[in-house]
Amino acid sequence: MCGIVGITGHENVVTDLVEGLRRLEYRGYDSAGVAIVQTDSVRVIKQQGKINDLERVLPWDELHGSCGIAHTRWATHGKPSKLNAHPHSSGALAVVHNGIVENYTALKVRLEGKGHLFRSETDSEVLAHLILDQYDGNLETAVQRALKLVEGTYGIAVVHADEPDKIVGARRGSPLLVGVGDGANYLASDVAAIMGHTRQVIYLDDGEMVVLTPQDVTTMNVDNQEVTKEIQEITWDLERIQKGGYPHYMLKEIFEQPQTVLDSFRGRILPESGDVKLGGIQLTDRELLAIKRIIIIACGTSWHAGLVGEYLLEEYARIPVEVEYASEFRYRSPVIEPGTLCLTISQSGETLDTLEAMREAKRRGAKVIGITNVVGSTIARESDCGVYIHAGPEIGVASTKAFTSQVTILILLTLLFGRRRHLGIEIGKRTIEELQRIPDKIQQVLDQSAAIRAIAEVYAQHSNCLYLGRGVNFPIALEGALKLKEISYIHADGYPAAEMKHGPIALIDPNMPVVVISTRDSSYEKIRGNVQEVKARQGKIISVVTEGDTEIAAASDHVITIPETMNMLTPLLSVIPLQLLAYYTAVIRGENVDQPRNLAKAVTVE
Ligand code: F6R
Repeated sequence: MCGIVGITGHENVVTDLVEGLRRLEYRGYDSAGVAIVQTDSVRVIKQQGKINDLERVLPWDELHGSCGIAHTRWATHGKPSKLNAHPHSSGALAVVHNGIVENYTALKVRLEGKGHLFRSETDSEVLAHLILDQYDGNLETAVQRALKLVEGTYGIAVVHADEPDKIVGARRGSPLLVGVGDGANYLASDVAAIMGHTRQVIYLDDGEMVVLTPQDVTTMNVDNQEVTKEIQEITWDLERIQKGGYPHYMLKEIFEQPQTVLDSFRGRILPESGDVKLGGIQLTDRELLAIKRIIIIACGTSWHAGLVGEYLLEEYARIPVEVEYASEFRYRSPVIEPGTLCLTISQSGETLDTLEAMREAKRRGAKVIGITNVVGSTIARESDCGVYIHAGPEIGVASTKAFTSQVTILILLTLLFGRRRHLGIEIGKRTIEELQRIPDKIQQVLDQSAAIRAIAEVYAQHSNCLYLGRGVNFPIALEGALKLKEISYIHADGYPAAEMKHGPIALIDPNMPVVVISTRDSSYEKIRGNVQEVKARQGKIISVVTEGDTEIAAASDHVITIPETMNMLTPLLSVIPLQLLAYYTAVIRGENVDQPRNLAKAVTVE
């Protein structure tokens, strides 16, 4: 997804802007550009493709300036191309924009009538002309006037050659933060872009603006009232967002899971009382008991985690749960009764559909708990209270460690709600004891990576794959299928295993690999029958079974084992081989694992 970097106060900002863009590469993009403020003009250089492509066309010797802005674009309006890339300029002004200008057609017609010449197909270009149109010597005033005319969402950074060391930023619906430095200041859509320079950051809220010069940071709102903001310290390390010896971020993140799952529950479990303590949830026992229904809102992988949560919360806490796609929820007229709790799950905390669905739930009176990874993200800040999953930065576009951490938090929430209802101390204690063993058990699954790669070798060139699971492993089948299609571009579907006979069974033939998650639990006997149905039609069976299983193993073409655990915790183990299977398949096919085509890490558009 689009990324913004701005720097004012370095001797020559070009290299540092490009470096900042590199740190945003993981978000996914299709073109990039920089605007450097020079004497009398703003020099804009942009290119379709990757940062390397931009670097190749940068006239390094000619580009000098202590103030500039830069952008990685992920196409929404207008195809990926050099012309559509940002920054967009008008006269001596340049702007980079994340978000969507909804009324750009009307604005464009008006500005063209005034003689502005448009060069791109984007909605964003209208901002450059609009701000210039309002400019009479003070950039922040021009931005304020212009934004009053804009409908839609934005995170922007603007420069003008007449105010050569100034960057103006503004935010509505698209993240933007300020890095406070010493003799230099920074603006970015993601803290990763500026962490090499400062750890002191200010997160802007919707409706806020900032004016940066090398010496000063002034925060205000669009009505020009000064706003006092807190400076926060980033405590995690840049190391954590680098590859650490792995060929891809995704593999690194898969292998981090023993640690990240531990980080998610560490300090939050109470082994003696079989209970948990979540500091971010400021609800009294009485308030917890008053919850009559839970709605889980999320997208993609986070939605799959939500489905796992539905099984857990209903079975162990006995609270009715519905899991909603955020994009659907926000446009329905959802029924929110007193006692409805909304759990919003989002790794990035910036997914626009999830954010808007959460706002809709709040408007309708629901209490909202945000389950997010990115500290200071919009969902984290706007939810009534929240729980960070503590998975650390997830760079690979395909989500892996965030999923297991989200599930871990849902297990903790199940204990929190359950222990105040029907869940006895003994089962609470047993769950916590077993949860503490899970990091080692994840490691045991990871230790089979060579065998999983060998399975991937067999099926990497196939065109389809089916994933089957039952109960708590049904969402894992969905997640396995999503991982495979996202990064290897193989068509894959996940189904509840018994549903196969109502349609997908027609697809099964000797060319159809079928991944069956058939761990030893209450649905084991049933799924054994489903395995036989596939076998009878000569489908190729890749089974994920519990250690010691012989029956399903005997009927399968390939077997991956996971250690025995409690049903509630099984997803934390059963998803690992599916992540590895998808990863190795994509690598064998030569795909760009960390930045799959058409996908972005944080989907901040509708
Ligand atoms: C899949 C994936 C996406 C995200 C989805 C929601 O690997 O990464 O499906 O899960 O876009 O993103 P967040 O969790 O950031 O709201």
